[in-house]
Amino acid sequence: MKKLYIKTYGCQMNVYDSDRMTDVLAPLGYVPHHAPEDADMVILNTCHIREKASEKVFSELGRLRQLKERARDQIGRDMMITVAGCVAQAEGEEITRRAPWVDMVVGPQSYHRLPEMITKLDPAARNSVIDTDFPEEVKFDYLPEEVAHRGPAAFLSVQEGCDKFCAFCVVPYTRGAEFSRSVAQVVDEAKKLVAAGTREITLLGQNVNAYHGEGPDGKNWGLGRLLHHLAEVDGVERLRYTTSHPLDMDDELIYAHRDIPALMPYLHLPVQAGSDRILSAMNRRHTADEYIAIIDRLRDAVPHLALSGDFIVGFPGETDADFADTLRLVDRVSYASAYSFKYSERPGTPAANAENQVDEAVKSDRLSSLQQLLDSQQMAFNKGCEGTKMDILVERVGGRDGQMTGRSPFMQSVYFEGDESQLGQILPMEISEARQNSLTARILTSD
Ligand code: 5AD
Ligand code: SF4
Repeated sequence: MKKLYIKTYGCQMNVYDSDRMTDVLAPLGYVPHHAPEDADMVILNTCHIREKASEKVFSELGRLRQLKERARDQIGRDMMITVAGCVAQAEGEEITRRAPWVDMVVGPQSYHRLPEMITKLDPAARNSVIDTDFPEEVKFDYLPEEVAHRGPAAFLSVQEGCDKFCAFCVVPYTRGAEFSRSVAQVVDEAKKLVAAGTREITLLGQNVNAYHGEGPDGKNWGLGRLLHHLAEVDGVERLRYTTSHPLDMDDELIYAHRDIPALMPYLHLPVQAGSDRILSAMNRRHTADEYIAIIDRLRDAVPHLALSGDFIVGFPGETDADFADTLRLVDRVSYASAYSFKYSERPGTPAANAENQVDEAVKSDRLSSLQQLLDSQQMAFNKGCEGTKMDILVERVGGRDGQMTGRSPFMQSVYFEGDESQLGQILPMEISEARQNSLTARILTSD
């Protein structure tokens, strides 16, 4: 038995990939371990989306070097260090140059080849093995059949890569072109997750609503149709999907929200900015009004839909007036939750070369005004839940004695008094108190 420690950075796709790497390494005798200190293999599954995320990798590698040397000197054990994910893809050679103690570098499309890479390693020669190909073969066809237990709520990757080329974003370069798994493969994995105890499945993709996988009828199915099909799978109680692009929000998907009870009333639909000039410079290919029109149609279909979004402030050329348009859009839409970021120059993306970069201090000011508005909307949304009844999926043991945590249909974290026997159950609760980032509830009993 060998100990495997994986540290995951960034998005949910990386969380899923880390689980799949665990599955890939299981036949070689690797079992998940909670700490790097005495691990035989450490994998950093990295994120390249913003500069800060990328930098973390090199500081973590510095710490791991010491652990590796200590393991070798003190107990004569070799600790293998692997860098996976999007930094691996973007900076493969650079990583082994700056951190020659790294044994393997594997890109997001090649991790099914990890076992083969391990055989090429020669610890004595201190070589490193790099695989950042976009392979001909599709990794999903080479991943093990076995899916380890994932918990009551699990991710399932259905689509990967992106052809949208937003001017700020590295994803089309690190994850490659859009690719959709077949309906059969997705259903098969969903059944395995259910058999292992999962009740809520979040379908993942960098551009998940661009899904166009081959259906059992040989035709390409969209995400709406896939969701209808998955809702029929025995044991799939709840469905979600993330992350979406407004241009791919088609009628079938909008009506899926109205027609599929298992599809939760929550949607993450990033807009990034509210100014048409900036949206165009970002290459988003829609206007603010077109985005709002989609939101209105979604709310016509599902009035209680909770909306979430992503925002970038300080994109090159963004003026005060442009930023005011973003605040106006946020005001008009009203979000239940949102993520907002300062624009970060990413090497190789079109916007990184723009000359009209925005001052860091201006970015910081805009970010805090935007976050203030988004926070107040989130609090208002949560407050509106007080006194209401909701079905909560019990996911984890809470931090305090006798406390459990779960997830509301609207993606809120919910804390309540309960016990471990309730894990994986969907229980009716009354929301007693709203906070900024969570709710407190009490279980409703039938007697
Ligand atoms: N700078 C800041 N934020 C970015 N995002 C993507 N690229 C950048 C960048 N260069 C944000 C977008 C995206 C989310 C995942 O990360 O808002 O939706
Ligand atoms: Fe990046 Fe735009 Fe593709 Fe989203 S749609 S992954 S922001 S390029």
